[in-house]
This record gives sequence, structure tokens and C-alpha cells, in this order.
Amino acid sequence: MERLRRVAIVTGGARGIGRAIVAAFAAKGIVSVIADIDLEVAEKAADEVRASGAEAIAIKVDLSCTDQIVQLIDQTMMRYGRLDILVNNAGILSNTPYDQIAEAEWDRVLDINLKGVLFASREALKPMLAQGWGRIISISSLAGRNGGVSIGPAYAASKAAVIGLTRHLARKVARNGITVNAVAPGTTETDIIKGFSEDEMVAINNAIPVGRLGKPEEIAAMVAFLASDSAAFITGAVIDINGGMYMG
Ligand SMILES: NC(=O)c1ccc[n+]([C@@H]2O[C@H](COP(=O)([O-])OP(=O)(O)OC[C@H]3O[C@@H](n4cnc5c(N)ncnc54)[C@H](O)[C@@H]3O)[C@@H](O)[C@H]2O)c1
Repeated sequence: MERLRRVAIVTGGARGIGRAIVAAFAAKGIVSVIADIDLEVAEKAADEVRASGAEAIAIKVDLSCTDQIVQLIDQTMMRYGRLDILVNNAGILSNTPYDQIAEAEWDRVLDINLKGVLFASREALKPMLAQGWGRIISISSLAGRNGGVSIGPAYAASKAAVIGLTRHLARKVARNGITVNAVAPGTTETDIIKGFSEDEMVAINNAIPVGRLGKPEEIAAMVAFLASDSAAFITGAVIDINGGMYMG
């Protein structure tokens, strides 16, 4: 009997944590649709996956545009005929303090980090409900748990809201073979943190009990587990991966 080939959409899968998730999926034979605003880097990532013998394609999408999300799901269904896993990973950082942030920046952060998660999940749930199996994993953040230390209010609020949305959706589809979970990484070695000064990085490292930053692969390993059959009884959970910085 041919083994079922699961199909995943990984938003923001071109680089950083998303790219590591795509690699973890490839290692398990899961097909990745790398959905990223940066098509050039996404295509390079898809080429690398195919060169390793696994399957991936790149699709350009801006997660703040709902019509582009609808097209992303349509194109995935046309190409592979199924959608099993959605990883809401794409996100942007915002460090502007609460008393300085402009409305446009607030809207942009919330549109990508929160609105995109709802609409991508809503569209992905249609084929998942029809199949009676699905996994949605959204990348929240330590800032969504503790309010953010050197991070702005738009980012912290968007990532906290992702947790509320995760629990809401988890209840709605719990009887349909679909789990919805969030992963909340602490500071992880990717491009998103390159704006931090050397002093800020020293302070962050010192504040982490384990004494170092996280690695994208360490986040990806948990996402791959949550996407598996073995994780069927985990839903509405928030998994903290932060070297002990937040222990609940
Ligand atoms: N790196 C960290 O320290 C850290 C900590 C906690 C949470 N996170 C979260 O993890 C996720 C991945 O972060 P990362 O560190 O890998 O970031 P990154 O900047 O390295 O990668 C983000 C990816 O998302 C894509 N993207 C950005 N805006 C998009 C949009 N509008 N539509 C589609 N794609 C878009 C980018 O092109 C990029 O490929 C984010 O949600 C981030 O908030 C990161």
C-alpha cells in the first residue's frame, strides 16, 4: 500500500524558523508549500528541498491580503489535491514603544501576525474538515506570554492574540480529527533579531537560564511532532521553547 504523502503549507517558509520547519518536514516525507512574500528566497528553498529528494514548491503570498490567502489554498489544492498541515509561521517584528507607534505600523503588524493567521486557518480548515484530519500550528512568541521585554506592544499583542485564536479554533474543530496548537519560541537565531544591538544581545543571553539563544531546528522539531499522528491528543496547547526564560 502506498504511504500517504502529507501536504503542508509553511507561511514564511523561505528563511529562519520557517525554513527549518520545511527541512524537518522534508526529512519526514511531508510535501511543503513554501508560502512567502519573498518569492526569490522561497524558490531557492524549494529548489534545495527538491535537490535533497523531497518535494516542495514556492508560492508568493502577502499574508496581510486575504484574497492572496484564498489563492494560496486554491493553488495548493489544484497542485496536490489535499492539505493536511498549516504552519502559520510568517511574522514581522516591531520594537516601536507604545507611546511612539503609529497607526500604520500597528495595523501592518496585526494584519500579518494575527489577521493572516485567522484567514489562513479558516481557508485551510475547509479541506481539512472535508478530509477529517488536519494540523494547524501557529508560531506565537515568548513576547505573547510575558508582554515582551525589548519588544514593542504591537508584536506582543499580536502574539498573545495568536494564543487566544489557537484555543478558540482548537475547540471548534476538536471533534473533526484536527488539532490546533501554538508554539511560543524565545529568542532564536534568525534574521528577525538582527536589529538588536550588541548590548541588547548580551542582556538577552544573560537572561536565558540555558545561557544561549534557541536554534531554528529546535523549534522545527516540535512543530514536526505536533504535525504528526502521535500528537493527536494535544490541542489548544501552547508549547514554550525558550531555554527556561518563561516557565508559566
Ligand atoms: N527569531 C526569534 O527570536 C523569534 C522568537 C519568537 C517568535 N518568532 C516568530 O517566529 C516566526 C518566524 O520568525 P523568524 O525568526 O524565522 O523570522 P525571519 O524574519 O527570519 O523569517 C520570516 C519569514 O516570513 C516572511 N514574511 C514576512 N512578512 C510576510 C508576509 N506579509 N507574507 C508572507 N511572508 C512574510 C519573510 O519573507 C521571511 O521569509 C515569526 O512569526 C516570528 O514572530 C521568532
